[in-house]
Amino acid sequence: MFLSAAVRSAVSQAARQVRSLHQSAARAGAGGIFVHRDTPDNNPDTPFEFTEENKKRIEAIISMYPHGHKQAATIPVLDLAQRQHGWLPISAMNKVAEVLEVPPMRVYEVATFYTMFLRQPVGKYFIQICTTTPCMLCNSDSILEAIQNKLGIKVGETTADKMFTLIEVECLGACVNAPMVQINDNYYEDLTPKDIEDIIDELKAGRVPPPGPRNGRFSCEPAGGLTSLTEPPPGPGFGVRADL
Ligand code: FES
Repeated sequence: MFLSAAVRSAVSQAARQVRSLHQSAARAGAGGIFVHRDTPDNNPDTPFEFTEENKKRIEAIISMYPHGHKQAATIPVLDLAQRQHGWLPISAMNKVAEVLEVPPMRVYEVATFYTMFLRQPVGKYFIQICTTTPCMLCNSDSILEAIQNKLGIKVGETTADKMFTLIEVECLGACVNAPMVQINDNYYEDLTPKDIEDIIDELKAGRVPPPGPRNGRFSCEPAGGLTSLTEPPPGPGFGVRADL
């Protein structure tokens, strides 16, 4: 069977990357286990109250749903709570349930299902590295290694200064720009180990680097240049006979 050079290269790279598949520790640093256990920092008495500004936002969010269906706002209101507090202690989930007038269990179900909800504290910069197949074939392992070496932490850990938390995640939907990481709300794409080291240096210096591809691409256009639509479109009327 004939394999193209690109496929042979990808297969041999994959063969070199002998590493246990997805680490369960990935969730330990973020969503954590599904069962809640009270701790000194995370129990029903942990102080949490929405700010006045966020209370207005909640009203606006709820108003988007039909009367009597406040529960539909569970995800955006949980997101608001997380953005305010940095993560979701059980007291924040209880507050969301109170605001939406639903049993707390309805909120716990959502918060434990979606990995975007963090039920343990994370660092100021929350690094999620994708190591699913397309990113792995583009050597996401080298990016993971660079992050771990640079920060001195492993997957699921937070730096001692609470600045960075690293977790490993499944596909973040930017495969065409692999390898990539998400840091807080930003995607950094087409990465090399040097790129991610530079990004971390910028963050340490208090600057947020612009998100997006790091290899000169504007977005997700072909890395080797356009193969179609290479000329301006001819415009309306093209091909219509002049005598008609
Ligand atoms: S596989 Fe990494 S973004 Fe899809």
